[in-house]
Amino acid sequence: MTNRKLQIALLVTTVIAMLLMTVGGKRRSTKRLSAQTIDTTLIFPAGFLWGTATAAEQLEPTDASDWAELIRKSYAGEGKPVTGAAIKNLHQWDEAVVRLKTGHSTKLAEDVQLMKDLGANAYRFSIAWDRLFPREGMAAPEATAVAFYDRLFAELKINGIEPSVTLFHFSSPAWFFAAKDGKRGWERSDATEQFTRFVNFVVNRWGKDVRVWCTLNEPMVYIYSGYMQGIFPPLEKRPDEKSVAPVMEGLLRSHAAAYAIIKKANPAALVGVTQHTREFAPYRNHAILDRIIAGKVEQAFIWDFTDAIQTGILKVTNTDIEKPIENLKATQDFIGINYYGRFYIKSNIFAPTKFEIKNHDDAFDGEIKNELGWADFPLGMRTILGSAKRRYSLPVYVLESGTANAAADDKLRQQLLVTHLAEVAGAIKDGVDVRGYFHWSLIDNFEWAEGFDARFGLVEVDYKNGFARKKRKSFETYRYIIRSGITAPIYNEAAKAY
Ligand code: BGC
Repeated sequence: MTNRKLQIALLVTTVIAMLLMTVGGKRRSTKRLSAQTIDTTLIFPAGFLWGTATAAEQLEPTDASDWAELIRKSYAGEGKPVTGAAIKNLHQWDEAVVRLKTGHSTKLAEDVQLMKDLGANAYRFSIAWDRLFPREGMAAPEATAVAFYDRLFAELKINGIEPSVTLFHFSSPAWFFAAKDGKRGWERSDATEQFTRFVNFVVNRWGKDVRVWCTLNEPMVYIYSGYMQGIFPPLEKRPDEKSVAPVMEGLLRSHAAAYAIIKKANPAALVGVTQHTREFAPYRNHAILDRIIAGKVEQAFIWDFTDAIQTGILKVTNTDIEKPIENLKATQDFIGINYYGRFYIKSNIFAPTKFEIKNHDDAFDGEIKNELGWADFPLGMRTILGSAKRRYSLPVYVLESGTANAAADDKLRQQLLVTHLAEVAGAIKDGVDVRGYFHWSLIDNFEWAEGFDARFGLVEVDYKNGFARKKRKSFETYRYIIRSGITAPIYNEAAKAY
């Protein structure tokens, strides 16, 4: 080949390669945190919210919720495992554990004291619709449940901790799933009316104390686990995105109605939803299909929902759905990000719709994974916060971040806290308006289909010993960061792990 021909061939190959790279979506980053060190303390803005997050169904007895039914079915006393139970390993616990979850209802003051010790200035929790309205059509809510949340708000106030309320965190009253005109739950024609009855009560009773509201927690996790995988109530296994779109629509309508109620009561309130996010990466960088699908999964799982709120039109990736929803447009004042690490997409060229989602990569030497097999990936925190800003130019709250780890040295959670918060600081430096971080979770709790095995708490709960609380080492780490920022020695030590 002549020199000229060689040059042209090279140019053509480079252009094709560049085209493939842009068309082919995001590549998996091989950057390691251990390659970086810092020499000055990372400080957070004044007014930053430092908190922990929980949800009612995971802490409290919720005898009338849709989960309560599933829990009862998954639990057999006398130490016998239930075959095919949706919730793992419940048989190993006493009936009191399975019902009371963490004993939070009687240890409420102690738990708020833990937040105070931590130096937290905020707390994200959910109010259980099923505890307030356990039966359909009740004219007034259950007095004991109202008294419980009254006490929680009072304790938080005395201790100078700002309450941040979530209205729907995966569970609802069991009666909501009784069929009405052939439809159940969020697809019922009166779903929004039923939900707003509960929302109205919450806003009238406690609204004056709440500034940051989350209407819906992780709607796409709820839909995926409850309507496609069938491991959360209502335990359905629908085949594709199109078949779950009516549930998305019901949730979006209810969000819009809740937004209007809250803003009418307090125009200065900040209202949004929070999304479960991961860095979706191609399993193999050279496989263009892995890369394309990773991009699609990110769009469908993370952004379709918040895009719908921003535009007022529900568009569902991979379908021709394009449905305007009344009063929905721009009903979000912030973007809530729950970030839990990196997932890998492994495609199959012969069956492109049947790709695998891997929660870690065994071939990645030194990858840190938690006790659920999830790959911890601090760098993804900064990326996702950046994407949220680019897409919506709204303030962002990290409403969850954490990991499952029961090891006595509690190393994993300490490293996670330091490195993930450093990435939050990095995002703030990049210009993202991040206004708070809520660690998941304050105490060990009921981890949905995983039962009580996965330990997410900064504080350990001893389920065999009257729910006794014991602070883990990461509790001290978080307390230190809240007080002093992330100093170079603690960052440089934690970053080595990644
Ligand atoms: C949920 C929490 C859950 C946590 C850990 C999030 O998906 O909002 O309820 O416990 O992640 O899995």
